[in-house]
Amino acid sequence: MTAMTPIAVFRDRGPGAAVGHPELYERVRRVIPPVEWAVFEPDIDAILRLKAERNAVILAHNYQTPEIYNTVADIVGDSLALAREAARVDADVIVLCGVHFMAETAKLMNPTKTVLIPDLKAGCSLAESITGADVRALKARHPGVPVVTYVNTSAEVKAESDICCTSGNAVEVVESLGVDRVIFLPDEFLAKNVAAQTKVDIIPWQGRCEVHERFTPADIATLRHDHPGIVVLAHPECDRAVVEAADYAGSTAGMTRYVAERQPAEVALITECSMSDNVAIANPGVGFVKPCNLCPHMKRITLPKIRHALETMTFEVTVPEEVAGRARLAVERMVAVGRKGAA
Ligand code: 13P
Ligand code: SF4
Repeated sequence: MTAMTPIAVFRDRGPGAAVGHPELYERVRRVIPPVEWAVFEPDIDAILRLKAERNAVILAHNYQTPEIYNTVADIVGDSLALAREAARVDADVIVLCGVHFMAETAKLMNPTKTVLIPDLKAGCSLAESITGADVRALKARHPGVPVVTYVNTSAEVKAESDICCTSGNAVEVVESLGVDRVIFLPDEFLAKNVAAQTKVDIIPWQGRCEVHERFTPADIATLRHDHPGIVVLAHPECDRAVVEAADYAGSTAGMTRYVAERQPAEVALITECSMSDNVAIANPGVGFVKPCNLCPHMKRITLPKIRHALETMTFEVTVPEEVAGRARLAVERMVAVGRKGAA
């Protein structure tokens, strides 16, 4: 059973007395008490200065902690938005606050920029689940069947693929190929959730997100029992039974949009923990019950490490030439497909 933290954690604590950068603190005061802000603020101050000195921008995924997401980040979003926005960055340096595959994707999309990740060990259980050799073996077993690869993979795996997708556009990407069968890598749960929405036959792999696989239908039943009327939104990296028990399933951007547009009285986001904090900040009229499954990889990124990255210009993420061209093509094809209901 996943631990659920009730709404009390989001109670507005009122304006903090005598805090540094009061305009930034104002953004996060619903979720960060002044005593914690006092710890964060010196690093935030240094990061803002270093960003200007280095001509750097910070791209942050929706799972980043609120003190990163709401203060030092220049661009925030889901995996698809970060891939698209990385291509448009003009600055010399991109600091990717997320996990390694996201930094690789940014480098693929904007190869002349210096791309830094604050912690090289920020990986992903899905990316770890499959290698380029695995994809070559699958293609040999299913000759002629196109390979659709979730962006949560290494550049080496992307290079073996026809096209990438994210949870924000997986069905559109699969259907864009105009075939009746695809290999879909590496998330077996996302594969099942896509298969339920298309007539295209899906050949899956057995990767799983270690964060989303822990949610169960019983968690949702408990939520509904304890919070009558609660709206439950699930990420499609969850098991099919969890998605079926939810009111809506979509990418982190899809869930954010759902809350912003519908303003439910009470909501639970069945996904990584920090996401609820960030969406709660943007939607003060919505009550949140917070499912506390943390992604240990996303949580490796901290303010002191971002500061260190900009001070030392580490850790640079590069993509070997022999895979970069083919991997870029797969990501660019995905970006060209776009996402449902968005530009
Ligand atoms: P999205 O932000 O694309 O929904 O992805 C979720 C995720 O798990 C990224 O690691
Ligand atoms: Fe990977 Fe899951 Fe963490 Fe996303 S939440 S980075 S899919 S382990």
